[in-house]
Amino acid sequence: MSLTAEQIQLVQSSFAKVRPVADQAAAIFYARLFEIAPQVKPMFKGDMAEQGRKLMAMLNTVVNGLTNLDSIVPAAQSMARRHVDYGVQPEHYAYVGSALLYALGQGLGTDFTPAVKLAWTDAYGLLSGVMIAAAYPAMQEQRA
Ligand code: HEM
Repeated sequence: MSLTAEQIQLVQSSFAKVRPVADQAAAIFYARLFEIAPQVKPMFKGDMAEQGRKLMAMLNTVVNGLTNLDSIVPAAQSMARRHVDYGVQPEHYAYVGSALLYALGQGLGTDFTPAVKLAWTDAYGLLSGVMIAAAYPAMQEQRA
């Protein structure tokens, strides 16, 4: 899967609007995540405001790197391998994607157009696909 230049532009320009309200967007994200997937909550051991800042910083890096995927894939892969140690399972990525889209929708309001939503859905699909493939190689073999 890859993104069109237009989708990249939509993801980047919409994220620019979320950046000023990043702390609130992160708080909405975790509240939603723990609502739809309460079983993942015990994996989060640290301060959630700090965790939210790390998440938004990493999203910022990924969003900026969409025009040059080679520049972000290695960092996404090693991050995914660290996530295995946190107890993250492949099926958790769908919950995170859903909570992320929800938080973006809340943060963007009417700017969260169907095209923006689709661009983010594809961008998250791309990122989570890279992460899952790196962190759970046995799963890929089973699929092949
Ligand atoms: C695009 C996907 C994701 C991004 C960008 C992301 C980002 C991050 C970042 C930047 C950290 C800080 C530590 C590190 O870099 O290793 C982190 C930690 C963590 N993430 Fe993620 N993450 C993603 C997916 C997930 C998923 C699917 C889960 C499953 C529920 C998850 C659960 C956690 C947990 C439990 C921690 C450690 C919290 C702690 O130490 O208290 N993440 N994540």
